[in-house]
Amino acid sequence: MRPKQILTCVFFIFCIFISAGCQRLPDSYQSPAVADDGYDLWLKYNKIDNAKKLKEYKKAISAVVVSGDSDTCEVVRDELKRALPGFLGKDIPFNESVEKNGTLLIGMPENSDIIAQLDLADSLKELGDEGFIIKTAKVNGKNCIVISANKDVGLLYGTFNLLRMMQTHKSLNNINIASKPKIQRRVLNHWDNRNGSIERGYAGKSLWKWSELPDTVDPRYTDYARANASLGINGTVLNNVNSDAVFFSTEYLKKAAKLADVFRPYGIKVYLSIRYTLPSQMKTENGIGPLQTADPLDPEVQAWWKDKAREIYKYIPDFGGFLVKANSEGQPGPQDYDKTHADGANLLADAIAPYGGIVMYRAFVYDPDVDPDRAKRAYMEFVPLDKQFKSNVLVQAKNGPVDFQPREPVQPLFGAMKQTPVMAELQVTQEYLGWSTHLVYLAPMWKEYLEFDTHAKGEGSTMAKVIDGTVHNNKLTGIAGVSNTGNDRNWCGHFFAQSNWFAYGRLAWDHELTAEDIADDWIKMSLTCDSKTVETIKSMMMGSWEACINYMTPLGLHHIMDGSHYGPGPNISRSSRIDWTSAYYHRADAEGLGFDRSSTGSNLTSQYFSPWKEIFDNIETCPDKYLLWFHHVPWDYKMKSGRTLWDELCVKYYQGTDYVEQMAETWQSLKGKVNPEIFEHVTTKLNQHIIDSAKWRDTCIQYFQGFSKMPIPESLQ
Ligand code: GCU
Repeated sequence: MRPKQILTCVFFIFCIFISAGCQRLPDSYQSPAVADDGYDLWLKYNKIDNAKKLKEYKKAISAVVVSGDSDTCEVVRDELKRALPGFLGKDIPFNESVEKNGTLLIGMPENSDIIAQLDLADSLKELGDEGFIIKTAKVNGKNCIVISANKDVGLLYGTFNLLRMMQTHKSLNNINIASKPKIQRRVLNHWDNRNGSIERGYAGKSLWKWSELPDTVDPRYTDYARANASLGINGTVLNNVNSDAVFFSTEYLKKAAKLADVFRPYGIKVYLSIRYTLPSQMKTENGIGPLQTADPLDPEVQAWWKDKAREIYKYIPDFGGFLVKANSEGQPGPQDYDKTHADGANLLADAIAPYGGIVMYRAFVYDPDVDPDRAKRAYMEFVPLDKQFKSNVLVQAKNGPVDFQPREPVQPLFGAMKQTPVMAELQVTQEYLGWSTHLVYLAPMWKEYLEFDTHAKGEGSTMAKVIDGTVHNNKLTGIAGVSNTGNDRNWCGHFFAQSNWFAYGRLAWDHELTAEDIADDWIKMSLTCDSKTVETIKSMMMGSWEACINYMTPLGLHHIMDGSHYGPGPNISRSSRIDWTSAYYHRADAEGLGFDRSSTGSNLTSQYFSPWKEIFDNIETCPDKYLLWFHHVPWDYKMKSGRTLWDELCVKYYQGTDYVEQMAETWQSLKGKVNPEIFEHVTTKLNQHIIDSAKWRDTCIQYFQGFSKMPIPESLQ
């Protein structure tokens, strides 16, 4: 090659390099090479990868002023010190006063003179202890973003809200947000045992290291609190509802107190699950007990609880209260002493009322002597007790009348108790929905329940409005989520299960949010802001719950799982109890399938308000999704689709498995678009998901075919 040719060649190669280097990155490109084991959840504070947004945010926030010196205000500063340099790629000064445009000003009128001058009093009046304002304002002639609240925890919630806006690339221009939670007690229930195991936990061992507490405090406790505070969760029940007395020993109260100390600055209160027989099992600090009885009307028992409450509040001054599982699945309770659940709850309520504590008394009771139909029992036991509970008692009911099935109709208790606040217990851990192996986004399910119009006080009495106190004007309100956390590095076992923790917290704060919007936020915060990828992932998530119902328990089937509640078990007998066998629920026979709970059967339908009572009662008007829940339906019954029940059942099973295959395929199309570590992890999970869903389909179809004696429709073969 001649020198001139060599020069041309070098120049050409140089040009290629330059042009490659100058190529603009797509707006939302996120370096897939950054390791991501899922530990940071949705609190990923990576550099804003959209150049326009980055510029906007740099201009909007170039300095921070946080007034207040409480521990919570320190947490606000810490979180901003983590997040802002991460987002903006540079350090942001923390100043004492507003000196320049682009100051983020955070404080309450009571501890900041500048905020006091801003005329926020009227708006703040509406926002209670936890609400907040975020707004753009001129302060000292400078353009600022102001976060204000009545209490410092409101500042923390406001801060997390602003950070979420940045993570999801929202505009920071002309902000004017006022937000407060619709429900007061937004609690996670940990079914964690003393030995570190977790009942229905699928993400490793308990986060609480009881043997190390109170001396050693795992930094992970703080990250747990951050994650919850970022969603607005303000309470945590540390131990399993099947409770161990040890948690009430002085030794363990000191351990729990240490956790409460870590959580307090994040606005999170600690609660404990009690065991009803505690007074007969242990002495109090002042030497009362163990007693011969735990009878709630016995004065000695009452004195025992009062003394125990005093001791608890000595160690944990802001202790939230008790969660109670009594006379349920072998747990002791007031009925063992011929007393009612109201007597049982009031004993505890009286003991902790002086300290502001509450009792969350579970309605998960299903004594076979009450009624042959398990689905009717909680209503039958609790509704007659309405009016009898003390004002600091909430009845905590699972969303459906049986037990966290893939789909159930709403528990009829919601709305039916008019004097007693009923709080909803949702299950974030996927006990019956494929553990931490199946990708099932639960927000659409929770929305279906929350939006169900109970008609308790006419139209518009949605379950959400029952729980938030609107329907019956309750002063105390609450919601609980059975947690899916464990000590797996990614907290929830399945990366996508993080979205359920996220969604639970967001809905607990605001049940009007849509499942789509929550998914949108979660994907942007956890995976990518690339709009096409976000849409693709969202569409996978949005149909995943319906798919799970279809390959497990379509058309209102329920509780046909194997003993572990993971795999199919339509033929399973879990114990000698009739209501613990699958056949009890599906009632398959030569004529048809389903549990007749209409007025010709168990008459569960009568527990609902009109028009549901009538709609559910009539096989023609009962929605397909609940059909086999309420009716025993002939195999050749003509469904709304025109197909026979048998064909429809098969179609649903296949729709479910097809969706899973489709999800797996779609996920593969995202290779290179999401973090590779997460990509591989989810790929592995989806591969197993395909296998499991096919097993569900084939086992169930084959089993029910033994009764229907009908062929699988040709179109499916
Ligand atoms: C389900 C679950 C149990 C749990 C119970 C409860 O039955 O399988 O493990 O203890 O619910 O909510 O109390």
